[in-house]
Amino acid sequence: MKVTAPPLGFNTWNTFGEDISDELIRSTADRIIELGLLDAGYNYIVIDDCWSEKQRDQNGRLVPNREKFPNGIKAVADYVHSKGLKFGIYSCVGNRTCADYPGSFEHEFIDAETFAEWGVDYLKYDYCFKPMTEKGDLLYKRMALALANCGRDILFSACNWGAENSKEWIKETGAHMWRSGNDIRDNWKSISDIFALQTEMIPYCSPACYNDMDMLVIGMNGEGFCALGGCSEIEYQTHFAMWCMFASPLMIGCDIRKIDDSALRILKNRGLIDICCDPLGCQPYMIDGVGCSDSHAQVWVRNLENGDIAIAMFNLGDGPSKGFLPLVSVGLNASTERTLELHDLYTGEVISGIRGEYLSEPIPAHGCKVFRAKVKKI
Ligand code: GLA
Repeated sequence: MKVTAPPLGFNTWNTFGEDISDELIRSTADRIIELGLLDAGYNYIVIDDCWSEKQRDQNGRLVPNREKFPNGIKAVADYVHSKGLKFGIYSCVGNRTCADYPGSFEHEFIDAETFAEWGVDYLKYDYCFKPMTEKGDLLYKRMALALANCGRDILFSACNWGAENSKEWIKETGAHMWRSGNDIRDNWKSISDIFALQTEMIPYCSPACYNDMDMLVIGMNGEGFCALGGCSEIEYQTHFAMWCMFASPLMIGCDIRKIDDSALRILKNRGLIDICCDPLGCQPYMIDGVGCSDSHAQVWVRNLENGDIAIAMFNLGDGPSKGFLPLVSVGLNASTERTLELHDLYTGEVISGIRGEYLSEPIPAHGCKVFRAKVKKI
């Protein structure tokens, strides 16, 4: 199977950890529809680790945890499908998963077959307990082969945190997306660390295998399994803009059943989602900001399929600063008879006739400015 855009959806891990159930998945599916998140593009519901019994059955098959999923996994997947959503599950290259449930090592074909029977559309495949004697790329290739033979299209989401230089080999395994860093936490330091790492991963992203910056923490507000402090609204806005600029998969990690209006507004930002999923699949490039000595803000530009330009200014500093874009850096020197029409993707403001030497915008600490710019002839 081929993917054409980074997937969008929900994953249980960030908020719920091992505290997952049939009821949680069904009620989350209901809310995704009611809140218009499916219409916004979030069409996967993924159950992360801890969904199975601790041991396989006598035939070597994975068994859904009887207390958490008394009706089995297929019943939950059927419900998710009945809402027009897709269903995802989790396993691991090792003998055990990261939370010590059975992993798929040397059970790849039987597990892929089981997942297909249950109606799985997405597999997150982790890297814990990888046998020392095995090569990581072979283990991902093995599962990719099993998935390709299971009789169902299953999106393959590799999660090896960038271990063993996977940036060099992961795309060859057939994965459709890959996690290049450590687990996210719900705080600004974690977000800015992931962003810094991501800037080194740009050459490794492709429209066939997207760089996965990890699940989103927007809306967690310091509550849930991976919450360590929480973020401000401004920080959540910057987090979302970063993930969209870098074409990362967008997997919601908060409790959607209790989501607040601010988080919902951020997650449903059409302009940013369109940039994230732009069909050209280009990565952004950094403008080094010639002459912007008073500015901490990083300015990133991404070319979009229809000729528009995505412009993002990220203030990673702890005080206010400026984002500074010399227009010549996108080819608009004084003699070019073109102007920019800026669409501010958070305020909705449209500013036309931008020309001259540079664009300069004040940005609060940890904040951002994101525009979709249209190039207009004078
Ligand atoms: C690893 C992954 C996380 C999550 C947990 C589950 O830490 O990176 O995203 O899947 O395992 O145990």
